[in-house]
Amino acid sequence: MKQRKKKIRKIAILTGGGDCPGLNAAIRAVVKSAIHELGLNHVIGVQDGFAGLIEQRVRKLRYADVSGIITLGGTVLGASNRANPFKIPRERKGEMTWEDRSDEVVRYCEKLKVEALICLGGDGTLGIAQKLFQKGIPVIGIPKTIDNDLLETDVTIGFDTAVAKACQAIDTLHSTAQSHHRVMIVETMGRNAGWIALYSGIASGGDILLIPEIPYDLEKICTVVEERSRRGRRFSILVVAEGARPRGGRQMYQEEIAGSGTDHRLRLGGIGKKIAGDLNRHGMEARYAILGHLLRGGWPSTSDRMLATHLGVEAVRAIADRDFGKMIAWKNGAVARVSLHQVIRGQRLVPKNHPYLEIARSLNVCLGI
Ligand code: F6P
Repeated sequence: MKQRKKKIRKIAILTGGGDCPGLNAAIRAVVKSAIHELGLNHVIGVQDGFAGLIEQRVRKLRYADVSGIITLGGTVLGASNRANPFKIPRERKGEMTWEDRSDEVVRYCEKLKVEALICLGGDGTLGIAQKLFQKGIPVIGIPKTIDNDLLETDVTIGFDTAVAKACQAIDTLHSTAQSHHRVMIVETMGRNAGWIALYSGIASGGDILLIPEIPYDLEKICTVVEERSRRGRRFSILVVAEGARPRGGRQMYQEEIAGSGTDHRLRLGGIGKKIAGDLNRHGMEARYAILGHLLRGGWPSTSDRMLATHLGVEAVRAIADRDFGKMIAWKNGAVARVSLHQVIRGQRLVPKNHPYLEIARSLNVCLGI
């Protein structure tokens, strides 16, 4: 006789790391399907990512709390990209030390009687989720980050919207670049991965695309701009990922994040300004715009709403199956459950043979070399 699994009575959800459009759509999908499919009355919402588990701040998410949030950017739960229960900064006599309070978090989850914890996040959040899983917390991950740099999934929640917003900005800058016969440099986010710059650069007809995976040669960029000018194209659109760097050079960053419990200790940014300065010194008129957090705010695209909804519902199905320690991924056009352990092995960067790099080359778009 088939054994019936014990009914799940309590689940919790948190959004860790930087926010992105689509998080609310996923929260809504989890809460609604937990109510419909698992027969729960509410889901426990942990506030501000892992900070809420450390500081014991949670609230009930009922049907009415998630009604109408599918269109909203950000996260109704709040997020934190610094809180790590395994590495909490403490200043002692002017020196930074680290404290592991993960046992407290485990005890708090037991006190809450949480039978599953859904963690929406990027590599930092999912790394912490995996460690909590190893400590006995039944965890399910959902991939989100505008950077699209998670292993074991073809796409992450937030990426499509970020690309759409970058495209919109580049389209807008096109006309002013054209009027003033300038090089307009657009810097996108993306950390060490060039996905946003590559996709938005191709989709908005950029002339030069620089990504971290292909260190650029300034001389080549100058030649391309000059050649375009000779052919009567007296402006150029250059899209650069914040993590890009010149050959033999370093990434540009704004600051080192003191007291960050995550592995991302540098706040990247400034490469657009550097390239503008370099081009100006070579006698070209260049201006730059940094898109920054504009890519992370506001409404989610249709694709992100669909992806978030799909992954959220599947996360609840995985809980019903008690299939923990997994991330709900999107692979080859379908949902898949992949081991969190596999996800956190590294970052998914743009491979050298990616079809869009080939397409860029076929279109005579300069990739910086
Ligand atoms: O990981 C998402 C991301 O937006 C990166 O693209 C960017 O480098 C970073 O977060 C910015 O972090 P913060 O919001 O802390 O400035």
